[in-house]
Amino acid sequence: MAILDKHAILEKNVTLLAIFAFLVVTIGGIVQIAPLFWLENTIEDVEGMRPYSPLELTGRDIYVREGCYVCHSQMVRPMRDEVERYGHYSLAAESKYDHPFQWGSKRTGPDLARVGGRYSDEWHVDHLRDPQSVVPESVMPKYGFLEDRLIEPEHIEDLLGTHRLVGVPYTDEMIDNAKADFKVQVDPFGDTDGLLSRYPKAQVRNFDGQPGISEADALIAYLQMLGTLVDFSTFTPVASR
Ligand code: HEC
Repeated sequence: MAILDKHAILEKNVTLLAIFAFLVVTIGGIVQIAPLFWLENTIEDVEGMRPYSPLELTGRDIYVREGCYVCHSQMVRPMRDEVERYGHYSLAAESKYDHPFQWGSKRTGPDLARVGGRYSDEWHVDHLRDPQSVVPESVMPKYGFLEDRLIEPEHIEDLLGTHRLVGVPYTDEMIDNAKADFKVQVDPFGDTDGLLSRYPKAQVRNFDGQPGISEADALIAYLQMLGTLVDFSTFTPVASR
């Protein structure tokens, strides 16, 4: 056939082959990738997801600073063994407020995407202080110093503002109340109505059980929130609606 004869020209000329192969890959790439930048539903909206509360966001910063992601992933993959161990597979929307995302690439320890509520605060305090006291075979380092480091929400408005800059929908109201929300989340006797209306499901407790707000408070508040925002008993994926 005539067209196949012409193809022989391409196959015999390496420069032509390279040019045409490049064109094919470029066009194919654009066709696949470009629509994702405009499609509204690239990240499916899921009920329950909200920006992190000021205390949780601070805890998340500590998680990143301490390099917890080096040993822990935060992405449950949609495979049976994973789902049976950790729970519902992770949705893209569940990390849409993460800058940078914490999917991780190595699991020396377990996935933490759904660790919220799995253990008590006391367990976390003990575990951070001395992981081997609760899991004898653990190779996790000790992070007991976090409970001795008291923190003030000095730059919390800037932190929320920076996340707003990269697309997290923090409102002016959230930023104006950031200091108060930060403090009230560890105060079981405080007035938490505002906090809970801005950050539904925020857990209010003295997480590390000691006076003052420590880095351990913030980190445990973050850990206890992970995977608890979306209610999977009522969630149906778009594809099966
Ligand atoms: C050197 C690797 C390493 C680092 C770094 C590390 N971990 Fe771990 N982590 C582990 C291992 C291994 C386990 C499993 C044994 C255990 O429970 O201690 C674990 C378990 C955990 C668990 C219990 C998870 C579950 O489902 O049982 C939590 C929570 C946790 N780590 C939090 C953290 C946090 C927060 C940090 C950072 C401050 C951190 N880890 C840093 C290795 C690590």
